[in-house]
Amino acid sequence: MELERAILERRSVRQFSDRPVERPVLEELLEAAVWAPSGGNCQPWAFVCVTDPAVVKKICTVTPGIFQVPKALICVCSDAIKGRSISGPMGEMIQCYNCGMAAQNIMLRAYDQGLGSCVIASFNGTALRVLLELPEHIVPRLLLVVGYPTRQPAPPPRNMDVIFWDKYGKEDGQ
Ligand SMILES: Cc1cc2nc3c(=O)[nH]c(=O)nc-3n(C[C@H](O)[C@H](O)[C@H](O)COP(=O)(O)O)c2cc1C
Repeated sequence: MELERAILERRSVRQFSDRPVERPVLEELLEAAVWAPSGGNCQPWAFVCVTDPAVVKKICTVTPGIFQVPKALICVCSDAIKGRSISGPMGEMIQCYNCGMAAQNIMLRAYDQGLGSCVIASFNGTALRVLLELPEHIVPRLLLVVGYPTRQPAPPPRNMDVIFWDKYGKEDGQ
């Protein structure tokens, strides 16, 4: 698939068919994740892919941001030990950037594979930590729901008046 198509047509998918997501397909998504850029290439992350229906269901019951139980979930976490070279508030921010970039790679690859996905930031970190047995240094940053879509959602509008040239406030041609 062309990159331009993937970027423009990827949508947040929240409703999925009953078709399970095959393991090799999930492996492709996880491979895309680890090829994301990270600060200093220290790759301070961990990805927990959940396909056990019972665990997926439990996670959904404690996650207000999920509307329909998906076939698979990927919990994108930062690893405080691998990322310890960048400490303080700046380090916290960079951990989030790293995870965001990995999540975008997963979503684009998912779309490329005919899958739908959606980032979920509205989750209960404490409950997730228990359900996924995350150790202290593994911090859940984002959840991704993954599955085969029942339909392609309409694109929510985008604002183009956020683009400036040379200085803030200067639009093209001014
Ligand atoms: C940081 C972040 C957090 C989000 N959290 C949620 C969420 O908790 N639940 C949800 O259904 N969608 C969530 N979304 C998806 C957005 O609602 C979606 O990306 C936005 O409406 C644009 O739609 P599109 O992705 O189809 O272009 C989140 C997206 C981002 C980037």
